[in-house]
Amino acid sequence: MSKNTEQWSSKLGFILAAAGSAIGLGAIWKLPYVAGTSGGGAFFLIFLLFTVLLGLPLLLAEFTIGRHTQKEAVTAYRTIAPHTKWHWIGRLGIVTSFLLLSFYSVVGGWILIYLFRAFTLNIHGMTPDQFGGMFQETIANPALAIFAHFIFMLLTILVIQMGVSKGIERSSKIMMPALFLLFIVIVVRSLTLDGAMEGVRFFLLPDFSSVTGETVLFALGQAFFSLSLGVSIMVTYSSYLKSKESLPKSATSIVALTIFISILAGLAIFPAVFAFGLEPTEGPPLIFIVLPAVFSSIPFGSVFFILFMALLLFATLTSAFSLLEIIVASITKGDETKRKKAAWIAGLLIFIMGVPSALSYGILADTLFFGLTFFDFLDYLVSNILLPLGALLIAIFVPLKIKKTTLFEELSKGSSIKKVWFNIWYVLLRYIAPVAIIIAFFHVIGFWDY
Ligand code: PHE
Repeated sequence: MSKNTEQWSSKLGFILAAAGSAIGLGAIWKLPYVAGTSGGGAFFLIFLLFTVLLGLPLLLAEFTIGRHTQKEAVTAYRTIAPHTKWHWIGRLGIVTSFLLLSFYSVVGGWILIYLFRAFTLNIHGMTPDQFGGMFQETIANPALAIFAHFIFMLLTILVIQMGVSKGIERSSKIMMPALFLLFIVIVVRSLTLDGAMEGVRFFLLPDFSSVTGETVLFALGQAFFSLSLGVSIMVTYSSYLKSKESLPKSATSIVALTIFISILAGLAIFPAVFAFGLEPTEGPPLIFIVLPAVFSSIPFGSVFFILFMALLLFATLTSAFSLLEIIVASITKGDETKRKKAAWIAGLLIFIMGVPSALSYGILADTLFFGLTFFDFLDYLVSNILLPLGALLIAIFVPLKIKKTTLFEELSKGSSIKKVWFNIWYVLLRYIAPVAIIIAFFHVIGFWDY
């Protein structure tokens, strides 16, 4: 099997692409609405703990597998543990990515619609209620929701068929910093609205009386979702990385960026939710109702609104690229002549899979699976079951199948790592992560209900 021939042209390129995969709808769209429905501050605190204590070690574990083998997900596991079933972790990641991208792209489609709207709509003077009505009207339209989802997938396919370094790396360098800057503008406006402090309290002051087993599981799922963990995407991305780069440094910067944008998103949304008298429990539509309302109270708000939607679209696309890339890379296995065909076939299948999710807020709103709409069901399955399951298997695989000395060597490349940090990482990965994930899983099988 051929070695990976593509390489990142710079360390920054890799960090931006990996951060581009991590930062997307998870931190900006999902975190606020899950925090909103799961009790606010306590949820956020548990999410932060999981991100640092489990997310960071797991990210490093995925990086180690990828860089050590220089292979895409499935082959990487095969290389380390030949003639075993461990490569099924890679397969699981591919199935999970497939399902995830199918509903992710639906939300990407909503952003496209809003971007288009932002050009034509005069948001000044519109009330938050009107924005709520506009959202319902938009996504309840079946043809529009499916069309927008199709265009989003089309954009993803077009970039991925061009290949990883050309397609992804180039644009991240400008767009991600721009997104951060614009977020700071929104946060400032949101915090200076009348009644904003109640939202800050809701988001940052933990109230543990609201914590249930489900809160813990959702926080765990959210931590993995927003770092793109458990699907071996970070294995695939780090396989393109040269061996002189430091993995711990890269992983720490990505986790720090993700936490930073999560805090910005919370501080942009919740103060405004309370200031406008909206409910934090709105669910998936939350940011689509709250953010336009914030923009309508800013001078030149319409311009900022366009800019924000464009940058959010970009952040969403860079995550979508990573999801399609891992599927395509597992098909091509380094044979770039197959890339085009693989991107189109996988992409179109994902589009079809996403159609019921696109209809979940319209004509399929009353068709329920285990009490959830198709969209919410897929999101639950992916975020709270498949991602933690993938992460659990990776946490078991790495210490079991890679020698401790090899791990230490891999983590020391580029810049040396202190033995105590290495040992802390090893304990968190080998003992703490599996136990924590298994305990959170007990909730799913109803263990806590007895
Ligand atoms: N991390 C991405 C986001 O927050 C979503 C994602 C999850 C992407 C898993 C790839 C794999 O938007």
